[in-house]
Amino acid sequence: MATNRTFTMIKPDAVANGHIGAILNDIIASGFRIVAMKYTKLSPEKAGEFYAVHKERGFYGDLVSFMSSGPIVAAILEKTNAVEDFRALIGATNPADAAEGTIRQKYAKSIDANAVHGSDSDENAEIEGNFYFTAFDKF
Ligand code: CMP
Repeated sequence: MATNRTFTMIKPDAVANGHIGAILNDIIASGFRIVAMKYTKLSPEKAGEFYAVHKERGFYGDLVSFMSSGPIVAAILEKTNAVEDFRALIGATNPADAAEGTIRQKYAKSIDANAVHGSDSDENAEIEGNFYFTAFDKF
C-alpha cells in the first residue's frame, strides 16, 4: 500500500480535558508523520459546513454546536495505509465500543464527545484536509 494521507481533528472535549499532548504522542508513536497542523476554533457556520454530509441526521445540530464549543487541533497525517490505520488507532465512533488501547477508549467520554475525528476514505481525507489547509501549509 502506497504512503498516503488522512485528516484528523482533536475535538473540543479532548482539548478541554488536556489530552492534546497524549493524543499527538499516540499518533506519532503509531508511525504517522504530521504534514500540516493548526490549533483553531470552528464557528457554528464552519462546523456546519464541515459536517454538511450529516445534515439530515438527527444528531447534526448537537454535532455542530459541540464542534464549535471550543478550540480543536486539525491535522493532516501521512503513513502507509493512513485512513484505515488511523481508524484502527482511534477505535469505534462510540467509545463504549472502542477496543482497549485505542484513542477513543482512553480519552473519549461519549459518542458526541469522542475525542478525535478520522477521515473515512482517501477522497474525504483530501476534501477535509483542504478545508483547513492550503498547499503552502503542507510540509
Ligand atoms: P465524527 O467521526 O467526527 O463524524 C461525525 C460525528 O457525529 C461522529 O464523529 C460522532 O461524534 C457524532 N455522532 C453523534 N451521534 C452519532 C451517531 N448516532 N452515529 C454516528 N456519529 C454520531
